[in-house]
Amino acid sequence: MRNVAVLGATGSIGTSALDVIARHPQRFRASVLTAHRASEALAVLCERFVPDLAIIADTALEADLRARLQRAGLATRVASGEAALAEAASSSLCDTVVAAIVGAAGLASTLAAARAGKRLLLANKEAIVMAGPLLLAALRAGGGELLPIDSEHNALFQALPGAAATRAESLQANGVHRLILTASGGPFRGRRRADLGAITPEQAVAHPNWRMGRKISVDSATLMNKGLEVIEAHFLFDAAPDCIEVVVHPQSIVHSLVEYADGSVLAQLGNPDMRTALAYGLAWPERIDAGVKRLDLVALAQLDFQAPDLDTFRCLGLAYAALHRGGTAPTVLNAANEVAVAAFLDGQLPFLAISEIIEACLDAIPAEPVENLTQLIQTDLTARATAQRMMRRLHC
Ligand SMILES: NC(=O)c1ccc[n+]([C@@H]2O[C@H](COP(=O)([O-])OP(=O)(O)OC[C@H]3O[C@@H](n4cnc5c(N)ncnc54)[C@H](OP(=O)(O)O)[C@@H]3O)[C@@H](O)[C@H]2O)c1
Repeated sequence: MRNVAVLGATGSIGTSALDVIARHPQRFRASVLTAHRASEALAVLCERFVPDLAIIADTALEADLRARLQRAGLATRVASGEAALAEAASSSLCDTVVAAIVGAAGLASTLAAARAGKRLLLANKEAIVMAGPLLLAALRAGGGELLPIDSEHNALFQALPGAAATRAESLQANGVHRLILTASGGPFRGRRRADLGAITPEQAVAHPNWRMGRKISVDSATLMNKGLEVIEAHFLFDAAPDCIEVVVHPQSIVHSLVEYADGSVLAQLGNPDMRTALAYGLAWPERIDAGVKRLDLVALAQLDFQAPDLDTFRCLGLAYAALHRGGTAPTVLNAANEVAVAAFLDGQLPFLAISEIIEACLDAIPAEPVENLTQLIQTDLTARATAQRMMRRLHC
């Protein structure tokens, strides 16, 4: 029996993870559930899954959650705050951690799970973009295992030989020539820059293939999501930036591909449903039912591939630039993106200005070699303050 901590249980990934867990009560138990402010939704999940511990990140809501669980007659313990998340992720309450908090807010708990040697199901891509070298060091020290949940990296993990997927051996030693990440292109695929001036948050979050949280949906619309994934692939598989290519694939059926030296290309396909990756991560190396609709190739009939439009969707180029710059540049990129996307969702920043703010931050803050967590947290804060300043200067 695996005891699973679902960090970000009330979100899109959290909900999918709990769906898979519920399908296999003999194998998995949700022992820790967490949310940020959705106290009511967390209480409903606690009634269904009866975890040992429920954590609400916003400490002001701890009493509210406690009262809800008491009224429901549950013995589930209640805690709050970021430190409680990290403590639970490294505690004996769980052997498996689904890192599904959105943004840099998930970094501390993700690192704690890695240091403690848990099986880490990594959905929180911002954590590895922000602190890739530190997360890898924590994994090595903890001796646990990382299963990528982002569908593209999960696909690469499946299409790579085991030793290369887990970084035990290099990609070159395994004859890998290229990693090809697919991108749906988001809701504005095919549009030109001039068409995107008046895009609203509701238009940006309306993804054609995936139902996801609002932040990642905007990232998909700007192609920053793919940019973050390029950086994630670099760290996860020790892949040089020039070996990672992005191809637009509107149907989101081919989740990513690995090209080998002999010209063979191995791909992982499936309907766009995150439960496949989550079931893979939870049961690995076994395969279990995920509740996902079977792929009907004949009904699909056609799969399309196109080059990304880097002029319209500048965020993807900025992510490659940050990766080439190295050191703390991805941390700056991630923080500036989080601030700009939040401002866009809040109606405070035009859609096209998201990339302008990120570019201005990357230009303003020199990249330094990554040394430690304190330095990265400071860089994150500096980038956030710089992004706020740039937004006031340029747009607000
Ligand atoms: N959704 C997908 O299909 C998908 C695919 C690949 C990767 N990912 C990645 O998975 C992560 C989660 O995405 P999502 O779409 O599931 O997001 P989401 O639906 O917005 O859910 C985010 C979860 O994190 C919690 N949370 C938000 N801010 C927090 C904070 N400051 N402290 C603690 N918890 C916080 C939320 O709690 P509340 O409900 O209380 O706000 C919620 O449980 C992201 O990093 C995303 O890039 C998602």
